[in-house]
Amino acid sequence: MYVNTKDILEKASKEYYAVPAFNINNMEFFHAILDGALEKRAPLIIETSEGAIKYAGNGDILKGARYFVELVRLFADSVDIPIALHLDHGKHFEYIIAAIKAGYSSVMIDASEEPFEENMKKTKEIVKIAHAAGVSVEAELGQLAGVEDNVSAEESVLVDPQQAKIFVEETGVDFLAPAIGTSHGAFKFKGDAKLDFERLKTVKELTKRPLVLHGASSVLPEYVKLAEEYGADLGGAKGVPEEELKKCVELGINKVNTDTDLRIAFIAGLRKYLKENPKEFDPRHYLGAGKKLVKEVVMNRLEFLGAAGKA
Ligand code: G3H
Ligand code: 13P
Ligand code: NA
Ligand code: ZN
Repeated sequence: MYVNTKDILEKASKEYYAVPAFNINNMEFFHAILDGALEKRAPLIIETSEGAIKYAGNGDILKGARYFVELVRLFADSVDIPIALHLDHGKHFEYIIAAIKAGYSSVMIDASEEPFEENMKKTKEIVKIAHAAGVSVEAELGQLAGVEDNVSAEESVLVDPQQAKIFVEETGVDFLAPAIGTSHGAFKFKGDAKLDFERLKTVKELTKRPLVLHGASSVLPEYVKLAEEYGADLGGAKGVPEEELKKCVELGINKVNTDTDLRIAFIAGLRKYLKENPKEFDPRHYLGAGKKLVKEVVMNRLEFLGAAGKA
């Protein structure tokens, strides 16, 4: 069934497990993720970036948002696991309103690169509009290093826990993404992963809200290796190890944003298939090879984050 993201995350927050939120851009990734969640009996959060919406709408924002709602609802309505659709990193009013209008379960207002007061003001405004439409809201505090939807921060600015407390109380936001040292993409750390667990723990204690970890892909060496074996160049790729993610879940993370891991798995499967089947040109066959590995990654994450069996 199609549900409000808040319902999925409040249960996860009470019981201290996390639900991965998987980014999609097209039908193939959605089918693979759905199959994985059904097999694992897990609640599911599908999310799309502004870029994904523009892509799916072939340039038309409202059409893109409506496309994803139609796709996700069509399948969600006929299965018995809870499924939510979330707008990831909403930075422009236009996209946020399009998502709400189209029927998304939740939206993220990401004004994290703006001063605290401005972030709070914008978040408050979106909360008012979204809640009136029965849509829940995520916001972000602090900044992730690297490129975050066209905005790049040289170094990460970690969340201030005292500010987080004020922020959730003032804005009424439903879930919060605190920056604790992760970054987006396939190249997160030069050396070992460095996450601020103490800070995370304090944010949970002070906010008592479902918390979101962005930039949470693990960039599993086995998939990177497979992709490279078949021609990819991903030298230096590094993610957040699964053990570190489990620790984050123990400390109160409930939504684990995952995009890069699916992209790498898909490209590994696709490259291998094309190399091994040079006569093949049926898209259902070569895209199917990518989907198979995406489903594998999805099932593994649902399992170790504790979402498996929770539907
Ligand atoms: O947070 C960023 C997500 O991985 C989506 O990125 O703008 O390339 O779709 P995108
Ligand atoms: P990854 O790039 O680590 O998959 O992070 C995705 C994300 O945070 C989407 O909002
Ligand atoms: Na998000
Ligand atoms: Zn993110």
